[in-house]
Amino acid sequence: MTEVLNTTTMQQQAREIDFAAEIERLRREKNAVILAHYYQDPEIQDIADFVGDSLDLSRKAAETDADIIAFCGVRFMGEVAKILSPEKKVVIPDMQAGCSLEESITADDLRAFKAEHPDHLVVTYINSSVEVKAESDYVVTSASAIDIINATPKDRPILFVPDRHLGRWLEKVTGREMTLWPGECIVHVEFSVEAIEGLKAKYPDAKIAVHPESPEAVVEMADHVGSTRSIIDYVVKTDAQRFIIGTETHILHQIRKEAPEKELIPLPGSDDTCQCATCPYMAMNTMQKLYLALNNEQPEIVIDEELRIRALTPLQRMLDISARAQAKRAARQAAE
Ligand code: 13P
Ligand code: SF4
Repeated sequence: MTEVLNTTTMQQQAREIDFAAEIERLRREKNAVILAHYYQDPEIQDIADFVGDSLDLSRKAAETDADIIAFCGVRFMGEVAKILSPEKKVVIPDMQAGCSLEESITADDLRAFKAEHPDHLVVTYINSSVEVKAESDYVVTSASAIDIINATPKDRPILFVPDRHLGRWLEKVTGREMTLWPGECIVHVEFSVEAIEGLKAKYPDAKIAVHPESPEAVVEMADHVGSTRSIIDYVVKTDAQRFIIGTETHILHQIRKEAPEKELIPLPGSDDTCQCATCPYMAMNTMQKLYLALNNEQPEIVIDEELRIRALTPLQRMLDISARAQAKRAARQAAE
């Protein structure tokens, strides 16, 4: 009975707190910055100082002068912020917010994979643990992967971990053969050719934009394949009215803000309630948990310093190579 009363009282108290106002107050008082991924709930995206894809969020985490980074995404994203900004306190709303790709490979698995292929370079998707990054030569995001793979020595074969779908797409785009780890994203792997065909029959004029974590047959049907940020840019800049979006559905919030006149049709995943695709890990974060994380400065990402330094090397390589490649593209465009 006491337990029931306590739970009821806590729920009552939670209802009385204006989380948005409290988060605002704590952010100012503590000189905190709130970073959020496009897959977060709309109210979290709207209160964040910056919303982005994994690459842009890494850059923001590296350059912030805030004392606290409150990272609304999944745990590996908070770890990346801590690797790049070790002097900052990094808190996340829920330490249980993992990722099926991260869970598909441990550092021991990767050491064994490397032992089987001793002459290979290791290119690791950012959706991985700090321990796995520490065993890698290069880290990539979906937005930076092509530039990074193109910059690796051509005479060295590549092990790509942990996403086999992203890896297979990268093989095709870069022409580099890679040995792939069999990991998958539980959200994107649900997308099917049948679902696209059904929507295309209904909306034949719709353009299709998908994330490269999707299965090969789905990627092959798409007009655009790329990171979350690139999908938003594609919808904003493409002269079409309707778009089928093949990625986690909360991205629609940001696309609607940037292109309110476009019609967006989410590709259905395994979530029967919304006929769309939702990431259960990203959904663990709530405004209440963000408020508690800022208030209690917990749960905090803590990384052993020797491990952090080892993970920093491949991550910094990615940031440097992608910055150089972007600068080159900008200079070329300016000259045209
Ligand atoms: P982006 O790097 O494109 O934001 O993707 C992150 C992710 O987790 C996709 O499922
Ligand atoms: Fe991981 Fe997939 Fe969720 Fe992205 S959508 S965080 S890859 S489980």
